[in-house]
Amino acid sequence: MTETTSTPALSNLLHEDRAFAPPAGFTADANVGAAAYGDAALDRLDFWARQAQRLSWSTPFTEVLDWSGAPFAKWFVGGRLNVAYNCVDRHVEAGHGDQVAYHFVGEPGDTRDITYAELQREVCRAANALQELGVGAGDRVAIYMPMIPETVVAMLACARIGAPHTVVFGGFSASALADRITDCDARVVITADGGYRRGAASALKPAVDEAVASCPQVRSVLVVRRTGQQVDWSEGRDLWWHEVLGRQSDEHAWETFDAEHPLYVMYTSGTTGKPKGILHTSGGYLTQVAYTHHAVFDLKPDTDVYWCAADIGWVTGHSYIVYGPLANRTTSMLYEGTPTTPHPGRWWELIQQYKVSILYTAPTTIRMFMKLGEQVPAGYDLTSLRLLGSVGEPINPEAWMWYRRVIGGDRCPVVDTWWQTETGAIMVSPLPGVTATKPGSAMRALPGIGAEVVDDDGVPVPDGSGGLLVLTEPWPSMLRGIWGDDDRFREAYWSRFSDQGYYFAGDGAKKDEDGDVWVLGRVDDVMNVSGHRLSTTEIESALVAHPAVAEAAVAGASDPTTGQAIVAFVILRDGVTVAGEELVAELRGHVSDTIGPIAKPRQVMIVPELPKTRSGKIMRRLLRDIAEHRELGDVTTLTDSSVMELISAKMPVTA
Ligand code: WT7
Repeated sequence: MTETTSTPALSNLLHEDRAFAPPAGFTADANVGAAAYGDAALDRLDFWARQAQRLSWSTPFTEVLDWSGAPFAKWFVGGRLNVAYNCVDRHVEAGHGDQVAYHFVGEPGDTRDITYAELQREVCRAANALQELGVGAGDRVAIYMPMIPETVVAMLACARIGAPHTVVFGGFSASALADRITDCDARVVITADGGYRRGAASALKPAVDEAVASCPQVRSVLVVRRTGQQVDWSEGRDLWWHEVLGRQSDEHAWETFDAEHPLYVMYTSGTTGKPKGILHTSGGYLTQVAYTHHAVFDLKPDTDVYWCAADIGWVTGHSYIVYGPLANRTTSMLYEGTPTTPHPGRWWELIQQYKVSILYTAPTTIRMFMKLGEQVPAGYDLTSLRLLGSVGEPINPEAWMWYRRVIGGDRCPVVDTWWQTETGAIMVSPLPGVTATKPGSAMRALPGIGAEVVDDDGVPVPDGSGGLLVLTEPWPSMLRGIWGDDDRFREAYWSRFSDQGYYFAGDGAKKDEDGDVWVLGRVDDVMNVSGHRLSTTEIESALVAHPAVAEAAVAGASDPTTGQAIVAFVILRDGVTVAGEELVAELRGHVSDTIGPIAKPRQVMIVPELPKTRSGKIMRRLLRDIAEHRELGDVTTLTDSSVMELISAKMPVTA
């Protein structure tokens, strides 16, 4: 059960007086000026109707928003479009076929520039290939890939034929992949033999083989050859991408789809053990990712080189590597590997070489670079940069200042962007040509967006106080539901403030004296480890599935690099003869195998009891206190407060 509280999980230093106004030159040339706020406030729906004109519609919409079935929204009712056409073909038709869409750089150093015209031909081939495999509009396709151009091609091919994709992060295990394939009933999987990570070829196909063994409905597995690793082959089911695409025409007639046609399902962790399939649709989603990419990153299609350094397997990659940038005819970087392979300056070398002007990354990566020392970026020319973005977790003021000074040369605006898998696009963020930014604050709701910080009763808190972050108005890229689970959709997001009709984001936040928003972190059972979202219960389920474990409780403890780290407390089954270190190592490995390496607990503590309330809820707040070596909070609702002493005694002082 969720223990929701308006006391934020992370305390933040809010005595931040520094503010950085945008440079005058930046403001003068900015895509979006201060007038946008007033403009959107005057008529919100008209504002979004105008933003939708960034897209090419084959049938114009007749109504901006139909909220009569709330919380299930319909945006741009009656409108029809093709998302892939909007991202690729129309730019070629407009004479930009020779513009580079992606500068791809593989980890081993191989490079490939893909123009919009090439992308169009590849997407057409892939769309024809999927149709040859019997994929039709509405059929789900699972994609489990490294960070290579074929991943983008596969997504766009799905979009082109109206087949919703579900991209599963390549770091997830076979069983996590199988769960997702099963939940959305995908019949076709697109993967690769492997990808390059940390200087070595890392296999993907074996995980697909293992996953598909428990998914009998999967009839085809399309395999991209990337690393040349040996792969097991299931005749009839497995097909080489290059062979199937090789025989296809590079032309494909696109069809149009309803604005509300499903575009993709992205799984994310909620407060229970089962991941939620977040559903995004076409017209509203593409409108808001295009608008926010234009407004927040100030994207100039003719001159910028833009780099969102996320993985395509997460929503950030979907919205800000693929759909938003392509809708805006961006030239992007696409880098396969880890930031410090083969040397710690790899990123900065790429920025220098490709003259990257916009960089979008996560606080955990910034903190990792801080640890490596500023002499590393100092060895490169980073003067091409003009704007920096951050996403994924609260950015601590120290990391924000380092990013601004060391990477941005004290000249680039820093935009801290708050959003979620569910919101589909950026919601709270500075506008780089308008906002005087404060280190650590996401500042204000974007034009056309309604966000508030409210108390437990849903009443907006006064400036200078904290509460819960809610979204007060529907927005174009909002999730349209949880795949196959309407009840969970209502319960998870809309039940907390049902009287007001607010969407509850699950984050605690504070409004400072100026009314600017500081997002403090999750207030539910969701953890944020290196910007990866994980549920405590999901990891607990993995632990109790191990034969040695009777009960488990997981908490997120603050960690200087990863933001939060996973600390697990387990009670062993009777008769398990504790093999100490060995068992701990086994349990950590077991979680990693079940969910993926990102879920591997930093610590596993074997304990005799767990702290519970009288109604049997595990008190994670207390476990977090222990994990962080804080003073214990109020323990009066515990069934047995001596439990805490027992647990504390087990906790090593060097966490
Ligand atoms: C959760 C959503 C949005 C794409 C990446 C994560 C946290 C995200 C910020 C930010 C403070 C942030 C929140 C949110 N979060 N951005 N700028 N400041 N917190 O997407 O996996 O759906 O996670 O990430 O806690 O609820 P996600």
